[in-house]
Amino acid sequence: MPNEISSSRTLHRLIYTSRQAFAAGLGHDQEIEALIRASIRNNRASAITGLLLVHDGWFVQALEGPAAAVMTTYQRILNDPRHTDSRVVSAGPGGAREFGDWNMCARRFSPADDAILDALSQRSAFDPSALTDKSALRLLKAVRGIQDRTALSA
Ligand SMILES: Cc1cc2nc3c(=O)[nH]c(=O)nc-3n(C[C@H](O)[C@H](O)[C@H](O)COP(=O)(O)O)c2cc1C
Repeated sequence: MPNEISSSRTLHRLIYTSRQAFAAGLGHDQEIEALIRASIRNNRASAITGLLLVHDGWFVQALEGPAAAVMTTYQRILNDPRHTDSRVVSAGPGGAREFGDWNMCARRFSPADDAILDALSQRSAFDPSALTDKSALRLLKAVRGIQDRTALSA
């Protein structure tokens, strides 16, 4: 059986949660915009796709791509002072890509995102500390599904 972990062609997926820790100064929306710009540029260059959910003081992010690129990117993100208390929920070979592009979901980013985040708020408390590997992927796939459907019907 081929060693999946060491194959450079294997897709890896890492999902983590962290707490937002934006410094006073720049507004929240400007911080998010700066973060998106750097992420789109870097992730394209290193074949990383994924989804970043920004909600209620939390980040939940999936990163997928070649193992080395995913780990290098996560290490860089980990050192970023704009968040804290990062917890890796799952990491390993990921089969096929679940997120065809790099995307994010944040309030005021698009009307679909507002609707998604309203729905998340209305359920019980949004509590990423309780997310498991399966429920975290399910959450991010549900967000992506709503974004995709909204884009199609727009
Ligand atoms: C929650 C969070 C998620 C991030 N996601 C990414 C990402 O997916 N890709 C990325 O390159 N940088 C991401 N960043 C930004 C990096 O920490 C870092 O600032 C950036 O990669 C530096 O890019 P530059 O050297 O091109 O300016 C993220 C930062 C935070 C706080």
